[in-house]
Amino acid sequence: MTAKLRVAVFPVAGLGTRFLPATKAMPKEMLTVVDRPIIQYAVDEAKEAGIEHFVFVTGRNKAVIEDHFDRQFELEHTLEQRGKTEALELLQTDLPEPGKTSFTRQQEPLGLGHAVWCARQLVGNEPFALLLPDMIFKAQPGVLSQMVKAYEQHGGNVVAVEEVDPAEVSSYGIVGRGDGPDEAFEITEMVEKPEPKDAPSNLIISGRYILQPEIFKLIENQPRGAGGEIQITDAMQALMGQQRFTGVKYEGRVFDCGSKIGFLSANAAFALDRPDLSAEFLQELHQIIRAAKR
Ligand code: UTP
Repeated sequence: MTAKLRVAVFPVAGLGTRFLPATKAMPKEMLTVVDRPIIQYAVDEAKEAGIEHFVFVTGRNKAVIEDHFDRQFELEHTLEQRGKTEALELLQTDLPEPGKTSFTRQQEPLGLGHAVWCARQLVGNEPFALLLPDMIFKAQPGVLSQMVKAYEQHGGNVVAVEEVDPAEVSSYGIVGRGDGPDEAFEITEMVEKPEPKDAPSNLIISGRYILQPEIFKLIENQPRGAGGEIQITDAMQALMGQQRFTGVKYEGRVFDCGSKIGFLSANAAFALDRPDLSAEFLQELHQIIRAAKR
């Protein structure tokens, strides 16, 4: 029997240097896409997939993330007094249940693998989902829900993948595709940033993982990889020798909000999807585009 997936880890301790100066005092994960912080999209996706325990790996200057997932009594009181019931309800639905969030610190940003390792005590000896919050998806059902289906079928480890232009593979972690359909195929190998001629496919790993707890020991034994950081891919490659990895070519579209273009595009795409904003925003966009062409 496959152990139920109950825990999700959100690494939010990075420096967000690509967004300076915005991220000097404000965590990147709290930048807003329309009117929700980036981190909220990943938490919503995890909730939809049945996650019960939300583990955040934070760092300095990130306390505001903790506050975001807490109650704000003064604000709630003011909204209540002013009869703003809709806003009040929104705050309440966004809030994880009491005791369902945990926060730990990565004292130094030593890479994603190290951030995940910092969550080992909170995760314990069970499988966990890993969501990189910068990647937000427009997907129905959510990408993690699509992965849980594959996990229930095959157990082991699962990663979400997407296709890129074969000329771009050298910027990403690439998987080799074995047997099985798009929704759940066996991964035969994993290569970090290969030359296009050496790449086993053009399928990149895209920010969502389901991992078994054995990964923690392997991270611990990893030497520092590219850029002096402890990478997660190195530990996953080691785990592949022992356990199955399933790839899910997810249905949907990703926005990499760690990059400016991805962040701006996410704002446009999510705003255009909102019934209260789309018509007016589209008009504005047309005007902006016409003016930019002049
Ligand atoms: P990124 O490499 O995209 O984030 O990591 P970054 O380092 O903050 O951004 P830039 O490149 O300097 O602009 C993806 C996710 O992993 C977290 C980040 O917070 C982000 O959510 N992360 C990264 C950590 O928690 N710790 C690290 O040491 C590195």
